[in-house]
Amino acid sequence: MNMDCRNGFEEIAVLQKKYIYALLRIQELKEQQQDFEIYEDLFGQIKDFSMYVYEFKQCYYGRALDWAEEYAFSLAQNIQEDLKNGNKKQVYNAIPTLINYLQKSNEEIQEILEEGLYNVDVGQMRYKNNAVISQKEDFILALDPDTMNPLEHFFFYGQHNKMTKWCHYFEVYHRHFQKYRNKPVTILEIGVWGGGSLQMWKKYFGDECRIVGIDIMDECKNYEEDRIKIYIGSQEDRDFLQKVKKEEGQFDIIIDDGGHTMNQQIATFEELYPCLSEEGIYLCEDVMTSYWPKYGGGYKKPASFIEYSKNFIDQLNARYSMSPDLKISKLTQTIRSVHYYDSIVVIEKGSHKPAMVI
Ligand SMILES: C[S@@+](CC[C@H](N)C(=O)[O-])C[C@H]1O[C@@H](n2cnc3c(N)ncnc32)[C@H](O)[C@@H]1O
Repeated sequence: MNMDCRNGFEEIAVLQKKYIYALLRIQELKEQQQDFEIYEDLFGQIKDFSMYVYEFKQCYYGRALDWAEEYAFSLAQNIQEDLKNGNKKQVYNAIPTLINYLQKSNEEIQEILEEGLYNVDVGQMRYKNNAVISQKEDFILALDPDTMNPLEHFFFYGQHNKMTKWCHYFEVYHRHFQKYRNKPVTILEIGVWGGGSLQMWKKYFGDECRIVGIDIMDECKNYEEDRIKIYIGSQEDRDFLQKVKKEEGQFDIIIDDGGHTMNQQIATFEELYPCLSEEGIYLCEDVMTSYWPKYGGGYKKPASFIEYSKNFIDQLNARYSMSPDLKISKLTQTIRSVHYYDSIVVIEKGSHKPAMVI
């Protein structure tokens, strides 16, 4: 255990709370129309502090979720500018968002402290083999191979190219995908990166499976091997997806782990869901981007993938609708179920007849 970095995280958490408190006070004083140019220094401090937290997490927590600090940094910088230019209204409007970013960051730091995950290089752990993982004594204790499902086991202990997955995804994959193991299935994954995840699917689904990958990076073509085919193109390019569909026909499983923007996720679903086999599974991962403006997301933003997918629930039940605004569609006839997990949406296709009361 590295006490220095634990202390570091603890200090950050305390300071963050102080800044949040200061911002809340400024909000309260809004009614009194303070001359808040005096706060310019405070926003400068928050800006520098956010960069410090960002770097600290990068250093001691590997691939941390660093978006909150990144946004806090740029927002504090904009607020400083607005203060200089006397744009009081903009400043007041931006303060709640800045508080939100600091709170998000603080929640994550608290979690790191509670879970004892400080000083674990999560990024490295994601794709390196035993030798590197074994340097992380604290964490390795939690990685008992006997309790792992086959995907997780391959990820941590198998020989494979680079890949990047959140640890909690393996349980979701296995829950939905296991019925297809050792069957002649075709799997499509959008987002090839180092090619390791395509190897994982090949191993998991067995000798009769075919794996297809799509990526925008030309070099991903190098990860083709026996029963792994890779197409280069963008998941947002509907003509390109049509071409892939024409060549490949149907897929039994589609995993969207590409660029994660709203347009990409929605265009890909619209183009590829129709070519999923009758009992197929569509899995869109990293849907936390539905809450991140950088990816076109935002809480309750109609254009986010999460909001878009909430309509599937209505489509699933459209047979019972009394409203002319909700009609039976192709989705009503083909979606069997929709599942929401932390950062993943799974749509299972299947025959879905009207319910009968006996
Ligand atoms: C998170 S990585 C994929 C990781 C891989 N599935 C794994 O599990 O190791 C995302 C990949 O999506 C690719 N990508 C980004 N934008 C894309 C787009 N518009 N179309 C297709 N692929 C895209 C990136 O080049 C990158 O290789």
